[in-house]
Amino acid sequence: MTPQLSCSNAQCRATFSIEDVLYTCPKCSALLEASYPGLALDPVSTKRLWRERRMSNAAIDQSGVWRYRELLGFVDPSKHAVVTLREGNTPLLPAPPAARYGGLDALVFKHQGFNPTGSFKDNGMTCGATQGLRLGLRRVACVSTGNTSASMAAYASSAGMTPVIFLPHGNISYGKLAQALEYGALTLQVEANFDQILALVRALAEKTGIYLLNSVNPFRIEGQKTIMVEMLDQRDWHVPDWVVVPGGNLGNISAFGKGFRELLQLGFIDKLPRFAVIQAAGSAPFEDYYRRRGEFQPVSEPETLATAIRIGDPVSWPKAIQVIDDSNGIVEKVTEQEIADAKAVVGQCGIGCEPASAATLAGIRKLTAAGVIDRGADVVAVLTGNVLKDPDYIFKYHTGQLKTPSGASIAPTYGNAPLVVPNDPERIAAILEERIPASS
Ligand code: F0G
Repeated sequence: MTPQLSCSNAQCRATFSIEDVLYTCPKCSALLEASYPGLALDPVSTKRLWRERRMSNAAIDQSGVWRYRELLGFVDPSKHAVVTLREGNTPLLPAPPAARYGGLDALVFKHQGFNPTGSFKDNGMTCGATQGLRLGLRRVACVSTGNTSASMAAYASSAGMTPVIFLPHGNISYGKLAQALEYGALTLQVEANFDQILALVRALAEKTGIYLLNSVNPFRIEGQKTIMVEMLDQRDWHVPDWVVVPGGNLGNISAFGKGFRELLQLGFIDKLPRFAVIQAAGSAPFEDYYRRRGEFQPVSEPETLATAIRIGDPVSWPKAIQVIDDSNGIVEKVTEQEIADAKAVVGQCGIGCEPASAATLAGIRKLTAAGVIDRGADVVAVLTGNVLKDPDYIFKYHTGQLKTPSGASIAPTYGNAPLVVPNDPERIAAILEERIPASS
């Protein structure tokens, strides 16, 4: 089995060396993906091996990505250094109040916010940074709505590489910007939106030889596919009816689809789940394309308070639509109010997430109401980022100050504003009795 880079376009399928620094196919410009021709694994013994590795103290076994390294044959960890912060290992959390809100009997969150830098990007970055190091590329770059940059900064710095980050000025949360600064990245805030900066950085990468670690990088996708492998391992290989995920640049859904496709081909599972991708209504080119088909129409001025998914021209849409079609999946969009309320409900479960992640629950509520997802369905929703990524949004929601990008007020339906009280035990006791009676 010689790992290679393959063109993702079914009409082209050109192949290249795994050591070529390529993101798109030089022949047809489609995105590339890592492939492993002839890979065969025994499902029973491999699943047992993966389970046994959870007992090991070796770094690559403790990583919830590299534990599944039989599916990551693009590097040989015995020859190449692996850059790991022990990513993955994220929990499956049942959330009964969220299930009720979403119109389901039960709902489980796969919470990627438990990662080292607080988002699913770490699953991909461990692979992207490892490949960068193996190729000897010491300078790495990305454009980001915040999470990719936080993750890249951490992984690059931990490996002694130099991270260079390009951000849309004024449109990322402080939590994420703070991480980039703290992890030591050269941080450039550009007066442009994500899509415009991605075009700029792709050209710069070509010109300067800086290694690009956006999700156009096929090795990022390799890491992110293991989110689904770990999820299945945690469920003793029972495939859910639905996997629900927010969609921005559409790298994650492409990775999830690839992971499932490979597991099916290898005989580890016998069916696919249906995928639901949820977009924010103001940044929903993929939802539009899914309904209309024809030409893909980017949104030139995408808007949403869920800044992580404020993307109008997602690069991975051709891969993503394949995943949706192959799985009989669906794409839905939700409003700012729906995202904000769903997010507060995830919080009330004691779980919490960042705004983009809450699009999943808002989408589930819409899809059960429409009869697309059955009340009794077995549903896993992926929470992509940690609650602390965007505290400003949380404070504004709970205090009734959150406004949509066009200036409309968002109602604090589940608002929980802090109370200012005098330093007076009598008064405080009275307030407590009023708010939470001892007899209740
Ligand atoms: N959720 C969160 C929290 C994200 O940060 C992102 C993407 C997505 C969902 C969408 O994932 O792009 O794979 O469809 N954030 C990127 C970034 C774009 O730069 O951090 P996708």
